[in-house]
Amino acid sequence: MTTTEPRTDQEILDRSSMDDVDAIAEFNADPAEVIHAVKDQAEALFTWDYSKGSRPRLDKLYEKAKNSQWNAQTDLDWSIEVDPLQAFSIFTEASNVNTGHWTEHPDSPAKNWGDKEWDQFSIESFAWRLSQFKHGEQGALLCTAKIVETVPWIDAKYYAATQVVDEARHVEVFEKYIDEKIGVRYPVNPHLQLLLDDIINDSRWDMTYLGMQIMVEGLALAAFGLMHQVTTEPLLKKLLRYVMSDEARHVAFGVLSLQEVYQDMTAKEIRERQEFAFEAGVRMRDRLLQQEVWDRMGANVKQAVQHGLNIPEEDDLFNQMLFSKIVPNCRKLGLLDAGDGWLREKYTEIGVIELEHLEDTGEEYQAFSLEDDEVSS
Ligand SMILES: [Fe+2]
Ligand SMILES: [Fe+2]
Repeated sequence: MTTTEPRTDQEILDRSSMDDVDAIAEFNADPAEVIHAVKDQAEALFTWDYSKGSRPRLDKLYEKAKNSQWNAQTDLDWSIEVDPLQAFSIFTEASNVNTGHWTEHPDSPAKNWGDKEWDQFSIESFAWRLSQFKHGEQGALLCTAKIVETVPWIDAKYYAATQVVDEARHVEVFEKYIDEKIGVRYPVNPHLQLLLDDIINDSRWDMTYLGMQIMVEGLALAAFGLMHQVTTEPLLKKLLRYVMSDEARHVAFGVLSLQEVYQDMTAKEIRERQEFAFEAGVRMRDRLLQQEVWDRMGANVKQAVQHGLNIPEEDDLFNQMLFSKIVPNCRKLGLLDAGDGWLREKYTEIGVIELEHLEDTGEEYQAFSLEDDEVSS
């Protein structure tokens, strides 16, 4: 098998190294920005092959999606009152910030915090998480609209069209929750924006799937699952339940579509996909460091980022679990081990390879389905 010399971290990430603290500590590049334009370089494809069901698993997903629509305005009880501190401190307790590495370590910017600071952090941090999810949902909305145009298969165009509606609903529902129940919001994290820009910018249609359906939505599905498990706030719990039922289909859409495409790719083409999966993994690790929250809390962001990167692996289980859908799906798609296991080595470096044998998401959407009585008729 011919292998291609992989690009260096510098070439893939456009910075001196994976752990370049100055680059990772950047945040909030342009707080005044209202519209953000990205070049979408792909061709829009018509297909004259209208044979519905020629890809049966995508067709089944499309039929399932049509019967699983819900309404963010009417299927949730927005009269529920939310006490942000009571509702969100539970996430600080469950997350990787509730460890001696942050509360006691001499290098931690939070080592001298009392209850007042930790209470504020809980609200800010949760508002930040939901804000980033909302921005990511808008990324999904744009990416899936792009897939409708660029994918050559009719079954995939049909399915992607249902996902466009799902993503509009997700942006809507997160914005409504942030607006009505929290009242604290954050701009998009630059590392998330960089990833979304790269995904939209790429001219190859399968890269949209890899970046969005496998990486961004894989992380979202895992994160929503963790939040759903932890929260006792009934409105958020139901909201997450609904969103997860959609996201599980979206990730399945990526796995089912890419399996077919990757079968026919050359080693060089697969290597480019591995590099993209690595880049996306690093961007998402960077974006989880909550740069904007540390800044709003008055901490030194660079110090907080450095401290976050130094976290011992055993204290970082929460963030590792966020990769619990991505790594098994990359394995299922053959990306971990192609080209002498290049991606396996890279995912070992960012500390997530242990998750490879968890269940992949090709069919998992069935388990996340809403019951008939959960969907408005
Ligand atoms: Fe979504
Ligand atoms: Fe999605």
